[in-house]
Amino acid sequence: MTVIGAGSMGSGIAALLASAGVSVRLLDIAGPVNDRNAIAQGGVQRQLKAEGFTHPGAAALVEVGNLDDDLQTIGDSDWIVEAIVEDLAIKRELFVRIERYRRKNAIVSSNTSTIPLKDLIEDRSDRFRKNFVITHFFNPPRRMQLLEVIQGYADRETHLRVERWATELLGKSVVACRDTPGFIANRIGNYWMSVASLEAIKSGITVEEADATVGQPFGVPRTGVFGLFDFVGINLVPLVWESLLGMLPQDDAHHRHDITDNELFASMLRRGLTGRFGPGGFYRRALPDGSKVDEVIDLQSGEYRQRQSPSPANYSGLRALCENAGSTGDYAWKVLSHLVQYSAGIASEIADDIDAIDLAMRIGYNWKFGPFELADEVGADWIVARLEQEGRDVPPLLREAASRGGFRPQVAPTTASRERAGRQLRLIDIKQKSAPIYRNASASLWDIGDGVACLETHTKLNACDEHVVEALQEAVRLVPYGHRTLTVGSGEGRAFSAGAKLDVFIAHVKASDWAGLRNFVASGQNALLALKYAPFPVVAASWGLTLGGGCELMMHCDAIVAHSELQAGFPERNAGIIPGWGGGTQLLLRHLERGAAPEAAALQAFITIVGCDVSRSALFAREAALLRPGDHILMSQAHVLDRAKKLALKLVDDYRAPDSAAIMVSGSQGRAALQAKIDAELAERKFTQTDAGIAEELAIVLTGGASADLKISEATMMALEVDAIVELAKRASTLARLEHLRSTNKPLRN
Ligand code: NAI
Repeated sequence: MTVIGAGSMGSGIAALLASAGVSVRLLDIAGPVNDRNAIAQGGVQRQLKAEGFTHPGAAALVEVGNLDDDLQTIGDSDWIVEAIVEDLAIKRELFVRIERYRRKNAIVSSNTSTIPLKDLIEDRSDRFRKNFVITHFFNPPRRMQLLEVIQGYADRETHLRVERWATELLGKSVVACRDTPGFIANRIGNYWMSVASLEAIKSGITVEEADATVGQPFGVPRTGVFGLFDFVGINLVPLVWESLLGMLPQDDAHHRHDITDNELFASMLRRGLTGRFGPGGFYRRALPDGSKVDEVIDLQSGEYRQRQSPSPANYSGLRALCENAGSTGDYAWKVLSHLVQYSAGIASEIADDIDAIDLAMRIGYNWKFGPFELADEVGADWIVARLEQEGRDVPPLLREAASRGGFRPQVAPTTASRERAGRQLRLIDIKQKSAPIYRNASASLWDIGDGVACLETHTKLNACDEHVVEALQEAVRLVPYGHRTLTVGSGEGRAFSAGAKLDVFIAHVKASDWAGLRNFVASGQNALLALKYAPFPVVAASWGLTLGGGCELMMHCDAIVAHSELQAGFPERNAGIIPGWGGGTQLLLRHLERGAAPEAAALQAFITIVGCDVSRSALFAREAALLRPGDHILMSQAHVLDRAKKLALKLVDDYRAPDSAAIMVSGSQGRAALQAKIDAELAERKFTQTDAGIAEELAIVLTGGASADLKISEATMMALEVDAIVELAKRASTLARLEHLRSTNKPLRN
């Protein structure tokens, strides 16, 4: 694949493709004679710095080049993404050159954010047009889920191929848009930003009040509106808004909320107040001399003043807030009513259905609710009545929704969205349609079809407790009755499992119930070993937080299908302990499997565990041996469970449970090496005495304890883990860490 344009977007898209394992060529204009590819290379460097790659190693898949020397090489690409400067003439000229070299049926897409598709390819051949779409990625491409696709004249095959690449390969959520200015998210999002800022200035409320009002009550991120301007850069206002306004018809409501001729924005730009990445914006955290402040712009005078906490809003729900007689109530109503009025007015012009609009706003702007969901929340009929009372226009779609009792349920999903849903398997759908095979307070076992079961934890962030342990045992017992294989998944978007529940642990420690603690840890180990040695394959479908006990659960499965943004690791040191459900043992085994000598394997496992590192992606987790080289990594979280199910079915034929592991350990020699490491960390003050004590217990486990035999059983090593946990649990420093972590969610460095 080829990306042309190595600026913020092009290099970010190239980094995304490379992170998905695709070889990609990145071209930009030619640099000086002695460094022709300097501009494209600069893009790669910027992405490495900004973590645009899920792992720096992925940068090796990007081959840089320049448009003068290398354009003909696009002939071997299936997809050519254009992401050069936003200039119609320059883009059109590039498409002429691309048409010369692209191979038959290669797809060309533009990342333009404002230029209509029909203008981009006005003079191109029909053959080119049928393979051309706009793929509007959001910034930064690695993090932003939304991909707006404008199909234009593209044929169905082109559309489906782009959709497949976007969803399955890159993990994006595709929203089909019509060929209209700003497409969906920016058309509505920019309008919302204009309304929410200008109405605040007009109504005399403060920056703090405005952001608090449009924030939580609307389900908008805490930055609110002024914080968002600071984040994206106030300097972009003239560029982005003028471009959008220039393309919208004069009767578009955007023109009635035009921030480009607002005096406050203009004066801030004259003073160079560009936002968070400049000397300050609506908020200012530091003075030019570097001294710390906490200030905001006074919306009337334009001068900075001390920031104040807005008085807590006294309302229940958005409608009650809008009905509030005060100025914030009036402001909330203005923002809500303009948003709903505008969205309903342009809905049929910009999208196939209102779902597309709500989805684009949720994932493009991180709103909890799209405009139509907000309208249903407060009542479409109530909005209509109030608009009429104020003599304002009521768009037909809004009137119709009011008469039908709301925007939802609405028309059936389009064929396209049904096709999209095809390859995605979601526990939420299974749960709506069926009853669990087994359920207790913390976990359930589901039938996910084709003879596959799925164990799901459903505590807060899927934390593991004694009920989860029991469910694991039950799953192993029940699967053979009617199922062939098991997956371990999650119905919670943010976590596979955030670890063992601290409460259970703390209760044992506080009661000095060492036998009870020993039993809790050992029963968890037994359940995970039962999973590992079950007579059928078990595949983990993991994403998000996969920490401590959750990471151990994942590692006891035969195989793992992980989302690329997996955050896995062992943060136990923060709780004053070490992993107790076989985490150290399995990690050591994985290093040994990779061919590391016992001493090196112990050192690597030791560094990962005492380092408390949480992986910044699945590739980092693989590097740390939390994943095996053959485990699968998908960019699309929505496809993880489906892939895990397919993999489990593939493994089922001829499956033989693994032989019980015999572990080569490094004994006293290895332990001395780890002790030297601990001493060094202490000397450099990277460890406190408490940390050193924890690390010493871990060192005992990873080197095989006091045994003179350098080959020990898995059971022996896991028993060492239990001993270490109980030993650490008896220390006052451990209880202090546990309680601090539970109450503040932050580690105590005692
Ligand atoms: P940028 O300014 O960071 O990068 C543009 C790149 O185009 C530069 O590397 C430049 O060397 C290259 N370029 C300039 N003149 C050229 C020419 N004559 N021929 C070939 N290449 C040339 O711009 P950015 O932000 O990466 O935007 C690229 C495209 O993506 C634009 O169409 C923009 O509207 C769109 N976009 C931008 C977003 C953003 O947040 N920055 C978000 C979504 C879309």
